[in-house]
Amino acid sequence: MIPEIEKLLNEQITYEAKASAQYLSMACWADVNGYNGVADFFYTQSEEERVHMTKLVKFINERSGIAVIPAIDKPRDDFKTLMELFETFLDSEEFVTARINNIIYECLQHKDYNVHNFMQWYVAEQLEEEATARTLLDKLKIIGDDKSGHYLFDRDINTFQIEDSAK
Ligand code: FEO
Repeated sequence: MIPEIEKLLNEQITYEAKASAQYLSMACWADVNGYNGVADFFYTQSEEERVHMTKLVKFINERSGIAVIPAIDKPRDDFKTLMELFETFLDSEEFVTARINNIIYECLQHKDYNVHNFMQWYVAEQLEEEATARTLLDKLKIIGDDKSGHYLFDRDINTFQIEDSAK
C-alpha cells in the first residue's frame, strides 16, 4: 500500500472512531433528557460509524498495510438544546466528508485506483448522512422553541424518510 495513502486511511479510522464516540455521547444526552427517539437515532448512528471504522481497519490490513487503533478524546457532552445536538451532527458529517474528499484527491494524485474504488462507498454514505443531518436540522429550525414540536420530532425521528438527492 502506498505509505501516504495508508497514513490517510489510518487518519480516517480516527475520524470514524471519533464520530462513533461523539454520537454515543449524544445518544446518552438524549436518553437522560427524555428524548428516547433521538437517543435511538444516535445509538444507531454510533454503530454505523463503528462499521465505517472497522471496514477501513480490515481493508488496510488486507492490503498489507497496518491499521492503527487510535486513542479517542472524551467526546462533547455539554449540550443545552436539541438544536445544538443536531448542529454538532451536521458539523461532524461535513468534516468527515471533507476528509474523504481529500483521500479521493490524493488517490488520484498517486494513481491509487484501488483505494479510490474502495472509497466510493464512503462517498455515497456521506451524501446520505449529510442529507439526513441537514434535513433534521432544518426541521428543528422550523420547530424553534415549541415544546410540543420537540415532542413530535422525538416521537417521529426514526420514521422520517430522508430523500437522498444523489440517488
Ligand atoms: Fe462515517 Fe458519517 O462518517
